[in-house]
Amino acid sequence: MKLKSIELVISAMSKTQYPHDELPEVAFVGRSNVGKSSAINTLLNRRSLARVSQNPGKTRTINFYKINEEFYFVDLPGYGYAKTAKTERQHWGTVMQEYFENSQDLRHIFLLLDIRHEPKEDDILMYKYAVHYNIPVTIIATKSDKISRGAFQKTFSMMRKKLDYHGEKILPISSLKKTGKDEIWNHIVNIFEQ
Ligand code: GTP
Ligand code: MG
Repeated sequence: MKLKSIELVISAMSKTQYPHDELPEVAFVGRSNVGKSSAINTLLNRRSLARVSQNPGKTRTINFYKINEEFYFVDLPGYGYAKTAKTERQHWGTVMQEYFENSQDLRHIFLLLDIRHEPKEDDILMYKYAVHYNIPVTIIATKSDKISRGAFQKTFSMMRKKLDYHGEKILPISSLKKTGKDEIWNHIVNIFEQ
C-alpha cells in the first residue's frame, strides 16, 4: 500500500463526532497495553502518530485515522486493565457499544492478542461480540519479538483453540522490530477487494 496521506480526523468521545464520509473502517481492538496504537504507527510508518504508553489506558477516545482519502484505521481504547475503576470500565463499555452499534462503515476488526499470553476471558468476549455483530475478525499477534519464530505456530494453535477462531490467518507483528507489516497490508488490501 502506498501511503499518500494520513490524517487524524477526530478523537471522538461520542457517535455525533464520528466521520460521516462513509469510507470503510478497519478497527483495532484488544486489551489495554497489547500494542494497538503501536501497531497502527508501525503500519503507517509513523513513530508517534497514535499515542503509545507503558501505562495501560493511554487511548481513551475513538481515534479515526483517514488513509489516502480511502479508508479509516480506528484506534479504540483497550479493555481488561485490572486497576481500572468500575466507573471507567462502564464508560469503556458504553463507548465501545456505541461504536459497534452505530458504525455503518466498519468492515473489519483486527483483534490484537499479545503473542506471549493465552487469550483471556475478555478477549473471548470481545471475539464473540464481533461475531455477534457479524463483523469479520482477523487476529493479530503483537510483540512477536518476545518469542522465537519457532514457537509461533504452537502459540497460534493455542489462540485458535482458546477463542474457537476459524479465521484464515493469525498475523504476527513486532512494532519494535517493524516486522509483519507487509502481510497485514496484503490482508487489508484483500479486505477492500472483496
Ligand atoms: P491502550 O491505548 O492503553 O489500550 O494500549 P495499546 O494497546 O494502544 O498499547 P500501546 O501501543 O500504547 O503499547 C503498550 C506498550 O507495549 C508500550 O510500552 C509499547 O512500547 C509496547 N509495545 C507495543 N508493541 C510492541 C512490540 O511489538 N514489541 C515490544 N517489545 N513492545 C511493544
Ligand atoms: Mg492505545
